[in-house]
Amino acid sequence: MWRTDPATSMVVGWNQITGSNPVLYYDEVPRGSDPLMYARRQAPDSNNSGKGMRNYFARLENLKPNTTYYFIIVDSEGTSKQMSFATTPNNAYERLSIIAGGDSRNNREARRKANLLVSKLRPHFVLFAGDMTGGDVSKQWQQWFNDWQLTITPDGHLTPIVVARGNHEASNKSLIDLFDVPHEGLYYKLKFGGDLLRVYTLNSMLPAGGKQMQWLANELKRDAGATWKMAQYHHSIRPHTERKSEKLEMQKNWSTLFYKYQVNLVSESDAHVVKTTYPIRPSVEEGSDEGFIRDDERGTVYIGEGCWGAPLRESNDLKNWTRSSGSFNQFKWIFIDQEKIEVRTIKTDFAEQAASVPKHDIFQIPVGLSIWNPLEGDVLRINRKILAVADNTASGGTTATTPSTSKPKPKLPPISRIYAGEGGSQVTVEYAIESIGEVEMSLLNKKMQRIRKATFANPKAGSCTQKFDIGGLPSGNYTLVVKKGDAIIRRYEVVKR
Ligand SMILES: [Fe+2]
Repeated sequence: MWRTDPATSMVVGWNQITGSNPVLYYDEVPRGSDPLMYARRQAPDSNNSGKGMRNYFARLENLKPNTTYYFIIVDSEGTSKQMSFATTPNNAYERLSIIAGGDSRNNREARRKANLLVSKLRPHFVLFAGDMTGGDVSKQWQQWFNDWQLTITPDGHLTPIVVARGNHEASNKSLIDLFDVPHEGLYYKLKFGGDLLRVYTLNSMLPAGGKQMQWLANELKRDAGATWKMAQYHHSIRPHTERKSEKLEMQKNWSTLFYKYQVNLVSESDAHVVKTTYPIRPSVEEGSDEGFIRDDERGTVYIGEGCWGAPLRESNDLKNWTRSSGSFNQFKWIFIDQEKIEVRTIKTDFAEQAASVPKHDIFQIPVGLSIWNPLEGDVLRINRKILAVADNTASGGTTATTPSTSKPKPKLPPISRIYAGEGGSQVTVEYAIESIGEVEMSLLNKKMQRIRKATFANPKAGSCTQKFDIGGLPSGNYTLVVKKGDAIIRRYEVVKR
């Protein structure tokens, strides 16, 4: 776990079943079972007796970023086997691999399979949004930790976990005791990869407004320089099963802030169904559904909703902004780099068939991994939002640097206007490319939702002309964006009469 910077710290926790005076020995190279060989040592900083265990925690600091550390624990009775953990990168140029999920409470077989997949996918960390056990009692927690051992790889590598509280955790204390969380309200922030990512863990068992909302607003304001922002919490705001109630307080207090401060991705749990949404923002305008409307340019993508071994529910409450939904055991596997986020839904029941990622390339999809492939596609992509800046440029005419990052972003081309005559079914679009390659054109409506898309192969570099079809669309103004790869090379305002 982490209490401070994930690039330079680690909390190692264990249940001291017997014996006394444990000391953790660690080093950057594997040193085997002889404690004298290890460069550094640390006695536990904290212990408690939560859930009938002797929970010990060594809070290691001043570690090197993106580094694997090997350790053993030695006590009055003997020496543990050698294990390892890794700190996260401290710069935005390294891609991150994250598993996000929650709700492991009843079906041990299902949750053990999901745990096994954690070991096979070897992510930088796991986001776990609550309801680990059914009754929050000692016996169940001890079983849960025994099952969690399956997340350890055959070569002894441990994956850090970032926890949020669910309604089956009777108090914040349960998780504070077991995971050494340094925040009594159990809402907290972690920073990954320099400015690459911030993760906000929220507590949906506390009031969403008031203190918690104020904390979230302050942190988000402070984090304007982060490339990506992600949140996790237990209750789904708009659950995709009729069996669960709507969470209007959370929608009002949190979703509004997610939109205002451009949180890109939110992981929810609790409903025990599978969902991904299109990017959405709070809205009651025409076209909205249950208080959200699709907004491909500035919206937040919500994923979830549990399924790490809790009883599955029917997915029977879909919205017009739902991307995909289903009902099976799963978690989300997320890759994050400077340009994009990729989210895959992994069917965890097929864990045994999957190979492991190679240690040196944890982004390689292993043979036999069961990735859900709904009609909308197996990979949900969130591209870095540059269009959000485009609007400012158009109205203010200022340089197109994003207000939210310290690094300069590519300057956006200005908007030029093209008219389509009455009944016109095509507009002529001009652009120039420096090298041969495919160009993608997207037509956006006033809400900046993409309504039409076309791709064109370009047999030569230099200036090109293409016809874009706008037949059948109502008259009005649209935005047309021409992209090559991730770069926007031309923008038009299309006026259809
Ligand atoms: Fe729950």
